[in-house]
Amino acid sequence: MTERETPSPDGLVIAILGGTGEQGRGLARRFAMVGHPVIIGSRNHDRARAVAREIGHGVRGLPNRGAAREAGLVIAAVPWEGHAGLLSGLAPELAGKIVVDCVNPLGFDARGAYPLPVPEGSAAQQAAALLPHSRVVAAFHHVSAVLLLDPDVADLGQDVLVLGDDRDATDLVQALAARIPGVRGVYAGRLRNAGQIEGLTANLVSINRRYKAHAGLRISDI
Ligand SMILES: NC(=O)c1ccc[n+]([C@@H]2O[C@H](COP(=O)([O-])OP(=O)(O)OC[C@H]3O[C@@H](n4cnc5c(N)ncnc54)[C@H](OP(=O)(O)O)[C@@H]3O)[C@@H](O)[C@H]2O)c1
Repeated sequence: MTERETPSPDGLVIAILGGTGEQGRGLARRFAMVGHPVIIGSRNHDRARAVAREIGHGVRGLPNRGAAREAGLVIAAVPWEGHAGLLSGLAPELAGKIVVDCVNPLGFDARGAYPLPVPEGSAAQQAAALLPHSRVVAAFHHVSAVLLLDPDVADLGQDVLVLGDDRDATDLVQALAARIPGVRGVYAGRLRNAGQIEGLTANLVSINRRYKAHAGLRISDI
C-alpha cells in the first residue's frame, strides 16, 4: 500500500470571519507568526483594519465577504448567535473552500456554562447544511484565546481535535494546527460527532473557573 501524502498548508491564505474577537485575533496572530497570509474578517471594514494593524505580522483586514472571497481556507470564529446568519449569507464565496468551524454553542447562567441544543446536532453540522458546496471541518474548540494571544506563551502544549467527513480537508487542518508551536492536530471523527466536542467546552469552562486555568486537551497513547 502506498503511504498517504499529507496535504500541505504551505502558503495557504487564511481568513477569519469574526476575526476581530478574541479567538479570531489569537488564531490570526499564531498563523501569521508562522508565515501564513492572514485576513481578519469583520462586519465593519475599519474595525477589521484596526485589529489587523494591532496584530501586525502582515495581517490584513477586510469585510467578512471580501475576506472569504480572497482566502483558500476560512475559519468561522463568531458567537453562536451570529453563526447561521453569517454563513448562509456567504455560501457563494465559501463554495469549494475548506471552512473550519470553532464555534461552541454554549449558554451561561448562575451555575456556569452548558451546551445549547442545536437542531442539526452541532454548529459544525449546521455549517455543513448551510454550505453544501464547502468542505466543513470542526477544530480549535478547546484552544484558549488567552493563550493564543499571550506573547509569553511560546508553546501551547495541547492537542487540537479535528473532525470532518473529507479526509484531505481534515488532514490539511491537522497539519495547519500543528504549525502552532506545541500543538498536535488529532483526527477525532466525523462531523456527526462534533456536538460533544463543542459541548465539552462547557466542562473546560468549569475546569478553568475552579482551577483558575486556561485548560486544553491532551489525548494519550497516540
Ligand atoms: N474565546 C475563546 O477562548 C474561544 C475558544 C475556542 C472557541 N471559541 C469560539 O470562537 C467563537 C468566537 O469567540 P470569541 O470569544 O472571539 O467571540 P466574540 O469576541 O464575542 O466575537 C467574535 C466576533 O464576531 C463578530 N460578531 C459578533 N456578533 C456577531 C453576529 N451576530 N454576526 C456576525 N458576527 C458577529 C464580532 O466581530 P465584528 O463586530 O467585527 O463583525 C466579534 O468581534 C465563539 O463561537 C466561541 O465559542 C472561543
